[in-house]
Amino acid sequence: MKQTLQLLTIGLWLALCSFTSAKEVRLYTQRHYTADKQFFAQFTKDTGIEVKVIKAGANELLARLKAEKAAPQADLYITTDAAALDRADAAGLLDKLNSETIQSRIPEGLQGRNSTWIPITMRGRVIIYSKKRAGKDLPTTYQDLAARQWKGRILIRSSSSVYNQSLLASILATEGRPAALAWARGVKNNMARPPQGGDRDQVRGVAQGLGELAVTNTYYLGLLEQSDDPKDRAARAAVGVIFPNQQDRGAHVNVSAAGIVKGAKNRLHAIALLEFLTSKEVQAGYQKMTSEFAVVKGVEPEPLQKNWGSFKADYASLHKLAGHHEEAVKIFDLAGWK
Ligand SMILES: [Fe+2]
Repeated sequence: MKQTLQLLTIGLWLALCSFTSAKEVRLYTQRHYTADKQFFAQFTKDTGIEVKVIKAGANELLARLKAEKAAPQADLYITTDAAALDRADAAGLLDKLNSETIQSRIPEGLQGRNSTWIPITMRGRVIIYSKKRAGKDLPTTYQDLAARQWKGRILIRSSSSVYNQSLLASILATEGRPAALAWARGVKNNMARPPQGGDRDQVRGVAQGLGELAVTNTYYLGLLEQSDDPKDRAARAAVGVIFPNQQDRGAHVNVSAAGIVKGAKNRLHAIALLEFLTSKEVQAGYQKMTSEFAVVKGVEPEPLQKNWGSFKADYASLHKLAGHHEEAVKIFDLAGWK
Protein backbone atom coordinates (compact mmCIF):
# COMPACT_ATOMS: atom_id res chain seq x y z
CA MET A 1 0.00 0.00 0.00
CA LYS A 2 2.74 2.36 1.04
CA GLN A 3 4.64 1.50 -2.15
CA THR A 4 1.62 2.11 -4.33
CA LEU A 5 1.08 5.46 -2.68
CA GLN A 6 4.71 6.36 -3.23
CA LEU A 7 4.49 5.41 -6.92
CA LEU A 8 1.32 7.44 -7.27
CA THR A 9 2.99 10.47 -5.73
CA ILE A 10 5.96 10.17 -8.07
CA GLY A 11 3.60 9.77 -11.01
CA LEU A 12 1.66 12.87 -10.01
CA TRP A 13 4.84 14.83 -9.51
CA LEU A 14 6.14 13.85 -12.96
CA ALA A 15 2.83 14.75 -14.58
CA LEU A 16 2.85 18.13 -12.85
CA CYS A 17 6.47 18.71 -13.91
CA SER A 18 5.77 17.98 -17.57
CA PHE A 19 2.70 20.22 -17.36
CA THR A 20 4.43 23.22 -15.84
CA SER A 21 7.72 22.92 -17.70
CA ALA A 22 6.30 22.11 -21.19
CA LYS A 23 8.35 24.47 -23.29
CA GLU A 24 6.37 24.35 -26.47
CA VAL A 25 4.37 26.35 -28.94
CA ARG A 26 1.52 24.75 -30.86
CA LEU A 27 0.90 25.83 -34.43
CA TYR A 28 -2.05 25.40 -36.74
CA THR A 29 -0.60 26.24 -40.13
CA GLN A 30 -1.58 26.16 -43.75
CA ARG A 31 2.04 26.48 -44.90
CA HIS A 32 3.95 23.46 -46.15
CA TYR A 33 7.46 24.69 -46.85
CA THR A 34 10.81 23.11 -46.02
CA ALA A 35 11.99 26.58 -45.06
CA ASP A 36 9.46 26.73 -42.19
CA LYS A 37 10.64 23.35 -40.89
CA GLN A 38 14.25 24.49 -40.90
CA PHE A 39 13.50 27.78 -39.15
CA PHE A 40 11.38 26.04 -36.49
CA ALA A 41 14.24 23.61 -35.84
CA GLN A 42 16.63 26.53 -35.50
CA PHE A 43 14.25 28.24 -33.07
CA THR A 44 14.05 25.09 -30.92
CA LYS A 45 17.82 24.81 -30.93
CA ASP A 46 18.19 28.46 -29.84
CA THR A 47 15.46 28.54 -27.19
CA GLY A 48 14.63 24.97 -26.15
CA ILE A 49 11.01 25.68 -27.10
CA GLU A 50 9.49 22.78 -29.04
CA VAL A 51 7.40 23.74 -32.10
CA LYS A 52 4.43 21.40 -32.57
CA VAL A 53 2.87 21.73 -35.99
CA ILE A 54 -0.53 20.69 -37.30
CA LYS A 55 -0.97 21.34 -41.02
CA ALA A 56 -4.31 21.59 -42.82
CA GLY A 57 -6.35 23.93 -45.00
CA ALA A 58 -7.26 27.35 -43.59
CA ASN A 59 -10.98 26.54 -43.31
CA GLU A 60 -10.40 23.21 -41.59
CA LEU A 61 -8.07 24.85 -39.08
CA LEU A 62 -10.55 27.66 -38.52
CA ALA A 63 -13.27 25.10 -37.79
CA ARG A 64 -10.97 23.44 -35.24
CA LEU A 65 -10.21 26.77 -33.59
CA LYS A 66 -13.93 27.46 -33.30
CA ALA A 67 -14.64 24.01 -31.87
CA GLU A 68 -11.83 24.40 -29.33
CA LYS A 69 -12.67 27.96 -28.35
CA ALA A 70 -13.30 27.03 -24.70
CA ALA A 71 -10.03 25.08 -24.42
CA PRO A 72 -7.65 26.18 -27.21
CA GLN A 73 -5.31 23.47 -28.47
CA ALA A 74 -3.27 25.88 -30.61
CA ASP A 75 -1.21 28.94 -29.73
CA LEU A 76 -0.68 30.30 -33.24
CA TYR A 77 -2.83 30.26 -36.37
CA ILE A 78 -0.81 30.70 -39.58
CA THR A 79 -2.37 31.01 -43.03
CA THR A 80 -1.33 32.08 -46.51
CA ASP A 81 -4.18 34.54 -46.84
CA ALA A 82 -4.96 37.72 -44.90
CA ALA A 83 -8.70 37.09 -45.30
CA ALA A 84 -8.44 33.83 -43.34
CA LEU A 85 -6.86 35.67 -40.39
CA ASP A 86 -9.52 38.39 -40.56
CA ARG A 87 -12.23 35.71 -40.45
CA ALA A 88 -10.63 34.17 -37.36
CA ASP A 89 -10.43 37.64 -35.82
CA ALA A 90 -14.07 38.38 -36.62
CA ALA A 91 -15.00 35.11 -34.89
CA GLY A 92 -13.28 36.35 -31.74
CA LEU A 93 -10.59 33.65 -31.91
CA LEU A 94 -7.52 35.87 -31.88
CA ASP A 95 -5.85 37.96 -29.22
CA LYS A 96 -4.07 41.29 -29.52
CA LEU A 97 -0.36 40.82 -30.05
CA ASN A 98 0.85 43.68 -27.82
CA SER A 99 4.48 43.30 -28.87
CA GLU A 100 6.14 46.61 -29.66
CA THR A 101 9.30 44.74 -30.73
CA ILE A 102 7.51 42.78 -33.45
CA GLN A 103 4.97 45.39 -34.52
CA SER A 104 7.51 48.17 -34.94
CA ARG A 105 9.42 46.02 -37.44
CA ILE A 106 6.55 45.77 -39.91
CA PRO A 107 4.86 48.52 -41.98
CA GLU A 108 1.51 49.29 -40.39
CA GLY A 109 -0.42 48.75 -43.63
CA LEU A 110 0.67 45.12 -43.68
CA GLN A 111 -0.54 44.27 -40.17
CA GLY A 112 -4.02 43.18 -39.17
CA ARG A 113 -6.25 46.19 -38.47
CA ASN A 114 -7.10 45.03 -34.94
CA SER A 115 -3.47 44.23 -34.08
CA THR A 116 -4.42 40.55 -33.89
CA TRP A 117 -2.18 39.31 -36.69
CA ILE A 118 1.13 40.09 -38.34
CA PRO A 119 2.49 39.03 -41.72
CA ILE A 120 5.47 36.68 -41.97
CA THR A 121 6.05 36.83 -45.72
CA MET A 122 4.44 38.61 -48.68
CA ARG A 123 3.79 37.64 -52.28
CA GLY A 124 2.61 39.62 -55.27
CA ARG A 125 0.24 38.38 -57.99
CA VAL A 126 1.71 39.45 -61.30
CA ILE A 127 1.16 39.19 -65.03
CA ILE A 128 3.92 37.48 -67.01
CA TYR A 129 4.31 37.64 -70.78
CA SER A 130 6.19 35.79 -73.48
CA LYS A 131 9.20 37.92 -74.36
CA LYS A 132 9.11 36.43 -77.87
CA ARG A 133 5.44 36.44 -78.74
CA ALA A 134 3.38 38.85 -76.64
CA GLY A 135 4.21 41.91 -78.72
CA LYS A 136 4.79 45.47 -77.52
CA ASP A 137 1.28 46.48 -76.48
CA LEU A 138 1.41 44.77 -73.09
CA PRO A 139 -1.19 44.95 -70.31
CA THR A 140 -0.49 47.36 -67.47
CA THR A 141 -3.50 46.55 -65.27
CA TYR A 142 -5.44 43.42 -64.26
CA GLN A 143 -8.36 44.99 -66.10
CA ASP A 144 -6.34 44.87 -69.36
CA LEU A 145 -6.39 41.06 -69.21
CA ALA A 146 -10.08 41.25 -70.09
CA ALA A 147 -9.48 43.21 -73.33
CA ARG A 148 -10.46 41.55 -76.62
CA GLN A 149 -6.94 41.70 -78.05
CA TRP A 150 -5.96 38.86 -75.70
CA LYS A 151 -8.64 36.44 -76.86
CA GLY A 152 -7.27 32.88 -76.75
CA ARG A 153 -3.91 34.04 -75.39
CA ILE A 154 -4.15 33.93 -71.57
CA LEU A 155 -3.21 31.09 -69.20
CA ILE A 156 -4.54 31.20 -65.66
CA ARG A 157 -5.38 28.60 -63.05
CA SER A 158 -8.75 27.55 -61.72
CA SER A 159 -11.08 29.82 -59.75
CA SER A 160 -10.89 27.35 -56.87
CA SER A 161 -7.43 28.77 -56.14
CA VAL A 162 -7.47 31.11 -53.17
CA TYR A 163 -4.90 33.22 -55.05
CA ASN A 164 -7.42 33.98 -57.79
CA GLN A 165 -10.25 34.41 -55.30
CA SER A 166 -8.20 36.91 -53.38
CA LEU A 167 -7.27 38.78 -56.58
CA LEU A 168 -10.94 39.01 -57.60
CA ALA A 169 -11.88 40.07 -54.05
CA SER A 170 -9.42 42.96 -54.38
CA ILE A 171 -10.97 43.96 -57.72
CA LEU A 172 -14.43 43.80 -56.13
CA ALA A 173 -13.26 45.91 -53.21
CA THR A 174 -11.75 48.63 -55.36
CA GLU A 175 -13.79 48.64 -58.58
CA GLY A 176 -17.18 47.30 -57.54
CA ARG A 177 -19.31 44.34 -58.61
CA PRO A 178 -20.15 45.22 -62.25
CA ALA A 179 -16.46 45.79 -63.07
CA ALA A 180 -15.46 42.61 -61.24
CA LEU A 181 -18.02 40.52 -63.11
CA ALA A 182 -17.02 42.06 -66.45
CA TRP A 183 -13.39 41.28 -65.62
CA ALA A 184 -14.05 37.64 -64.74
CA ARG A 185 -16.13 37.19 -67.92
CA GLY A 186 -13.53 38.93 -70.07
CA VAL A 187 -10.61 36.89 -68.75
CA LYS A 188 -12.62 33.68 -69.04
CA ASN A 189 -13.29 34.50 -72.70
CA ASN A 190 -9.61 35.19 -73.30
CA MET A 191 -8.32 31.90 -71.90
CA ALA A 192 -6.12 29.84 -74.20
CA ARG A 193 -7.29 26.63 -72.49
CA PRO A 194 -9.58 25.59 -69.66
CA PRO A 195 -7.94 26.37 -66.29
CA GLN A 196 -5.57 23.64 -65.16
CA GLY A 197 -2.43 23.22 -63.07
CA GLY A 198 -0.77 25.57 -60.61
CA ASP A 199 0.87 28.95 -61.18
CA ARG A 200 4.14 27.39 -62.32
CA ASP A 201 2.29 25.44 -65.01
CA GLN A 202 0.98 28.70 -66.45
CA VAL A 203 4.50 30.07 -66.77
CA ARG A 204 5.68 26.79 -68.32
CA GLY A 205 2.72 26.97 -70.70
CA VAL A 206 3.67 30.46 -71.89
CA ALA A 207 7.25 29.26 -72.46
CA GLN A 208 5.89 26.32 -74.49
CA GLY A 209 3.84 28.63 -76.67
CA LEU A 210 0.39 27.63 -75.33
CA GLY A 211 -0.40 31.25 -74.54
CA GLU A 212 1.26 34.66 -74.39
CA LEU A 213 0.20 35.97 -70.99
CA ALA A 214 -0.26 34.30 -67.61
CA VAL A 215 -0.91 35.19 -63.99
CA THR A 216 1.32 33.91 -61.21
CA ASN A 217 2.44 34.61 -57.68
CA THR A 218 5.90 36.12 -57.64
CA TYR A 219 7.65 33.44 -55.58
CA TYR A 220 6.91 30.78 -58.20
CA LEU A 221 9.13 32.74 -60.59
CA GLY A 222 11.91 32.45 -58.01
CA LEU A 223 11.28 28.72 -57.55
CA LEU A 224 11.42 28.17 -61.33
CA GLU A 225 14.61 30.19 -61.59
CA GLN A 226 16.24 28.14 -58.82
CA SER A 227 14.88 24.81 -60.04
CA ASP A 228 17.14 21.82 -60.67
CA ASP A 229 15.25 21.27 -63.91
CA PRO A 230 16.84 23.24 -66.78
CA LYS A 231 13.44 23.37 -68.53
CA ASP A 232 12.01 25.31 -65.58
CA ARG A 233 14.92 27.72 -65.59
CA ALA A 234 14.41 28.24 -69.33
CA ALA A 235 10.67 28.81 -68.78
CA ARG A 236 11.42 31.58 -66.28
CA ALA A 237 13.95 33.14 -68.65
CA ALA A 238 11.40 33.18 -71.48
CA VAL A 239 8.97 35.49 -69.69
CA GLY A 240 8.90 39.11 -68.56
CA VAL A 241 7.19 40.35 -65.38
CA ILE A 242 4.53 43.07 -65.10
CA PHE A 243 3.44 44.46 -61.72
CA PRO A 244 -0.09 45.65 -62.59
CA ASN A 245 -1.91 48.83 -61.57
CA GLN A 246 1.20 50.83 -60.77
CA GLN A 247 -0.58 54.08 -61.70
CA ASP A 248 -3.39 53.49 -59.22
CA ARG A 249 -3.87 51.07 -56.30
CA GLY A 250 -0.76 48.96 -56.89
CA ALA A 251 -0.19 45.26 -57.54
CA HIS A 252 -2.30 42.75 -55.65
CA VAL A 253 -0.39 41.27 -52.73
CA ASN A 254 -1.26 38.78 -50.05
CA VAL A 255 0.59 37.57 -46.98
CA SER A 256 1.38 34.51 -45.00
CA ALA A 257 0.42 35.71 -41.57
CA ALA A 258 0.13 34.62 -37.98
CA GLY A 259 -2.35 35.37 -35.22
CA ILE A 260 -2.17 34.51 -31.54
CA VAL A 261 -5.03 32.31 -30.49
CA LYS A 262 -7.18 33.78 -27.71
CA GLY A 263 -6.53 31.87 -24.51
CA ALA A 264 -3.29 30.40 -25.86
CA LYS A 265 -1.57 28.36 -23.18
CA ASN A 266 1.88 29.23 -24.49
CA ARG A 267 1.37 32.88 -25.41
CA LEU A 268 4.90 33.95 -24.43
CA HIS A 269 6.49 31.16 -26.43
CA ALA A 270 4.29 32.04 -29.38
CA ILE A 271 5.48 35.65 -29.20
CA ALA A 272 9.08 34.45 -28.96
CA LEU A 273 8.57 32.44 -32.16
CA LEU A 274 7.06 35.44 -33.96
CA GLU A 275 9.97 37.57 -32.81
CA PHE A 276 12.32 34.99 -34.27
CA LEU A 277 10.40 34.70 -37.57
CA THR A 278 10.34 38.47 -38.03
CA SER A 279 14.06 38.90 -37.28
CA LYS A 280 16.06 40.28 -40.18
CA GLU A 281 18.06 37.05 -40.45
CA VAL A 282 15.04 34.78 -40.82
CA GLN A 283 13.29 37.26 -43.12
CA ALA A 284 16.32 37.33 -45.41
CA GLY A 285 16.40 33.53 -45.16
CA TYR A 286 12.80 33.30 -46.38
CA GLN A 287 13.62 35.47 -49.37
CA LYS A 288 16.51 33.16 -50.25
CA MET A 289 14.67 29.89 -49.73
CA THR A 290 11.10 30.54 -50.88
CA SER A 291 11.49 33.76 -52.90
CA GLU A 292 8.64 35.27 -50.87
CA PHE A 293 9.15 38.92 -49.92
CA ALA A 294 10.33 39.90 -46.46
CA VAL A 295 7.79 41.94 -44.49
CA VAL A 296 10.10 43.75 -42.10
CA LYS A 297 11.70 47.10 -42.77
CA GLY A 298 15.32 47.19 -43.85
CA VAL A 299 15.66 43.80 -45.52
CA GLU A 300 16.94 44.10 -49.09
CA PRO A 301 15.23 41.90 -51.69
CA GLU A 302 17.30 39.10 -53.23
CA PRO A 303 18.92 39.87 -56.60
CA LEU A 304 16.48 37.56 -58.40
CA GLN A 305 13.58 39.47 -56.79
CA LYS A 306 15.09 42.80 -57.78
CA ASN A 307 15.12 41.53 -61.37
CA TRP A 308 11.30 41.44 -61.30
CA GLY A 309 11.40 45.20 -60.81
CA SER A 310 10.42 47.44 -57.92
CA PHE A 311 6.72 47.95 -57.43
CA LYS A 312 3.90 49.60 -55.57
CA ALA A 313 1.84 47.10 -53.57
CA ASP A 314 -1.88 47.35 -52.86
CA TYR A 315 -1.87 47.22 -49.05
CA ALA A 316 -5.33 48.78 -48.74
CA SER A 317 -7.23 45.92 -50.43
CA LEU A 318 -5.48 43.38 -48.22
CA HIS A 319 -7.80 44.39 -45.40
CA LYS A 320 -10.94 44.19 -47.52
CA LEU A 321 -10.45 40.66 -48.86
CA ALA A 322 -12.41 38.85 -46.16
CA GLY A 323 -15.49 40.97 -46.84
CA HIS A 324 -15.46 40.19 -50.58
CA HIS A 325 -14.33 36.60 -50.73
CA GLU A 326 -17.72 34.94 -50.82
CA GLU A 327 -18.94 37.31 -53.53
CA ALA A 328 -15.77 36.63 -55.55
CA VAL A 329 -16.49 32.89 -55.60
CA LYS A 330 -20.06 33.60 -56.78
CA ILE A 331 -18.81 35.87 -59.55
CA PHE A 332 -16.38 33.22 -60.80
CA ASP A 333 -19.32 30.81 -61.04
CA LEU A 334 -21.46 33.37 -62.88
CA ALA A 335 -18.64 33.98 -65.33
CA GLY A 336 -18.25 30.25 -65.94
CA TRP A 337 -14.60 30.35 -64.85
CA LYS A 338 -13.97 26.74 -63.83
FE1 LIG B 1 1.63 28.78 -53.41
